[in-house]
Amino acid sequence: MKIMVCTTLVYSKIYPPALNKHRQIVTTLEKNKALLPFNTFGLMADAQAFMVIQTTKDIKTAIQSGIRPLRILGGGSNILFTKTVDGLLLKNEISGIEIVRRWNNKVHIAVGGGENWHKFVLWAVENGYGGIENMSLIPGTVGASPIQNIGAYGVELKDVFVRLEAIDLATNKKYVFNKKQCEFGYRDSIFKRHAKDKYLITKVVFSLTSTQHKINTSYGDISKTLETLQITGTPTIKDISKAVIHIRSSKLPDPAKIGNCGSFFKNPELPSSVLEQIRQTHPTAPGYTLPNDRVKIPAGWLIEQCGWKGKRVGNTGCYEKQALVLVNHGGANGQEVKQLSQDIIKSVKEQFNVALEPEVNIW
Ligand code: EPU
Repeated sequence: MKIMVCTTLVYSKIYPPALNKHRQIVTTLEKNKALLPFNTFGLMADAQAFMVIQTTKDIKTAIQSGIRPLRILGGGSNILFTKTVDGLLLKNEISGIEIVRRWNNKVHIAVGGGENWHKFVLWAVENGYGGIENMSLIPGTVGASPIQNIGAYGVELKDVFVRLEAIDLATNKKYVFNKKQCEFGYRDSIFKRHAKDKYLITKVVFSLTSTQHKINTSYGDISKTLETLQITGTPTIKDISKAVIHIRSSKLPDPAKIGNCGSFFKNPELPSSVLEQIRQTHPTAPGYTLPNDRVKIPAGWLIEQCGWKGKRVGNTGCYEKQALVLVNHGGANGQEVKQLSQDIIKSVKEQFNVALEPEVNIW
C-alpha cells in the first residue's frame, strides 16, 4: 500500500543552487520496503513501513501516520539488520549547506542532516574551509555524524561541532542541542544513550576555518602517506584530504564492492594494568595512553592475535587488511554477521579477558 503525501519545499541560500527554489516533492509512505539498497553491509531485510524525509513537514506527516515505533535511517553505514524492521523507518534526506556566520578566520556552516558526510567534506575542502579534512571518506550522513561522534586520523566531530537542531518524534517539537548537551565521548553521545531514537537530526552547525587552518598530521599514517604521495612542505587541507582518502581506500573495503560497516567494534578503553598484563605475554601489544591511568587498545590488534584477520566464515568474514572490519562476501544475512561478531567477542574475552563492544548498531 502507498499513501501519497504532497509537501512544498522552501530553501534559502543553500547549496547546491539547483535546489534553491520552491519545488514539489511527493513523499511516499511505503509498506514492506526492501532495505538492500539502504545498508552498506548489503544485507536483505525489509521495513514494515518506510518513508523518505526531506522536510520538517514530512516528519509531521510521519508522526501523524500513527505507526510506531518511528525509527531513523541515515546512510545505512553503521547498521546491521538482523530481522524485519518494525514500525516506520524514516530515511533522513534533509539537504542543504549554508554559511550562517563568518568572522575573522572562522565560518559557521549549517548542513542538512540528510547530506552525505563525505560530499560535505569535499565541498568544504574545495571551498577552502578547514577542520574536517581528516574525516574524509567516512561513509554516512551529516545527521548521523554527531550520534556516534565520528572520528578519524586525530580529529573527532566534537572538535568542529557547534550545535544541532532536532525534532522530537514524540511531540514534533524542535530542540537545539549545543556541544555540552550532546555529551560527546569516544564514539558516543547522548543520542546513543537516553536520547536514543527520540530525535530526528535535521541540521548540524559546524565551526570551520577559512584561513590559518590547523593542519593535523599527528596520526602517524598521515605523515607517512604524505611522503608516499611526495607532498613536501606544509600540507594544505586538500593534501590532508587526499592522504586520508589514500589511507582509507587502501585499508578499508569499498562498500560498493564488499559489504561492510567500517569498524565493527570500538577500541576498548581499559585500566593501564590490563595492557601491562597483556604485555607479559605479548611485549609489543599496542596501546594509547588516556587520562586517569587508562589506555585504549586497538581492537583490530586483539582480533588479529586471535587468528580472525582474513578468515572467512560462510558468506561473512573478517577483512584481510583491517581486522576491525567485518564483511559480507555476498549473500550473507544479518544473523550470520551477528554470529561472527559474537564468536570474535568470545575468543577475545577468552584469550585476553577483554570485552569488545560493537560500534555498529544491531537491529
Ligand atoms: N591493528 C592491528 N591489526 C589490524 C588492525 C589494526 O594490529 O588488523 C592495530 C595496529 O597496531 C594499528 C592500530 O591497530 O597501528 C590502529 O589501526 P588503525 O590506524 O587502522 O585504526 P583503528 O584503531 O583500527 C580507528 C577507528 C577508525 C579510524 C581509524 C583512524 C575505531 C573503532 N575505529 O581504527 O574508524 O578510521 O582509527 O583514525 O575507533 C570507523 O569507525 O568505521 C573507522 C574506520
